[in-house]
Amino acid sequence: MSIPLILDVDTGVDDAFALMVAARDPQADLRAVTCVAGNASVDKVLANTLYVLEAAGAAEVPVAKGAARPLLAPPHDAGHVHGPDGLGGFSRQSDRRADPLPAVDLLRRELTSAMANGERITVVPLAPLTNIALLLRTYPEAAAGIERIIFMGGSAGAGNASAVAEFNVWHDPEAAAIVLAACRDLGVAVTMYGLDVFTAVTVSGDDAARLKELPDPAAQLAGNLIEAHRSVFQADRITLGDAGAVLAALDPAGIRTQALPVRVDAGYGHGRGQTIVDRRDWTGDVEVEPATHRLGGAPTMVDVALGVDARRYADRWLAAFGG
Ligand code: BDR
Ligand code: CA
Repeated sequence: MSIPLILDVDTGVDDAFALMVAARDPQADLRAVTCVAGNASVDKVLANTLYVLEAAGAAEVPVAKGAARPLLAPPHDAGHVHGPDGLGGFSRQSDRRADPLPAVDLLRRELTSAMANGERITVVPLAPLTNIALLLRTYPEAAAGIERIIFMGGSAGAGNASAVAEFNVWHDPEAAAIVLAACRDLGVAVTMYGLDVFTAVTVSGDDAARLKELPDPAAQLAGNLIEAHRSVFQADRITLGDAGAVLAALDPAGIRTQALPVRVDAGYGHGRGQTIVDRRDWTGDVEVEPATHRLGGAPTMVDVALGVDARRYADRWLAAFGG
């Protein structure tokens, strides 16, 4: 059975890994991709996304440009991880053009037409949640077309952008807070594929060498991108990162989740951008804690990924290249 998917990306080396498996996996039915500023400017993200999809043989998938900056905070790219071009130095011009619709309108169109066909789409945000917050506030009725949101972001433990905040949530905490509140109010199921699992699904230098030998532009690009990150991180094995969230949509049995109350810290202290995951087992106190009825309301119950079958996901990703 195929799984209808929309990806929201800030391509990004690991977003490219995610686009490749979404374009190639036999079970994935990639309906659209929307772009947002994050790892690089939205114009670079758009160019990288069009190029990666073309290399993966998915040039027909509509791609739209979204927010050029977070809702409130200034943008901070991640050029130190993904290179100044956002794609480890491997960005190339594509002949393809973006869809003329802005991201929120492409999202609305795809979700509405899925609903008209009696379907729902799994939305997989792999970037700051700006576009998804704008969608859910502009067109809340489109939420009925969402099967589930599986977002890469957040952490139940340590952060990466700060001691406690993961990059995507840290980049636009207001958007992340809006998305969680809107999902709670609109009844949209949410899975958080955060740093607790993000780094576990890895590939090696040997995998890169094998991919680069294949007569397939996507495999060669994947091999080059693995090498780029091996060099940034000075490591043999590097994470497939965002691709894991797509694999979680295709193969949910590969992750272990726990339904937990989650809030986003959108304050201006050292915790800004933290996903506050309430792991207390005396959950009764969630009802009486004073913050519950303040700005933002009750926490959202989120299926937080706390474990992943890393070998299973890495093998499935490699299988997308037939190797
Ligand atoms: C996230 O930040 C970005 O750099 C990656 O693409 C991923 O989505 C990890 O914190
Ligand atoms: Ca990303």
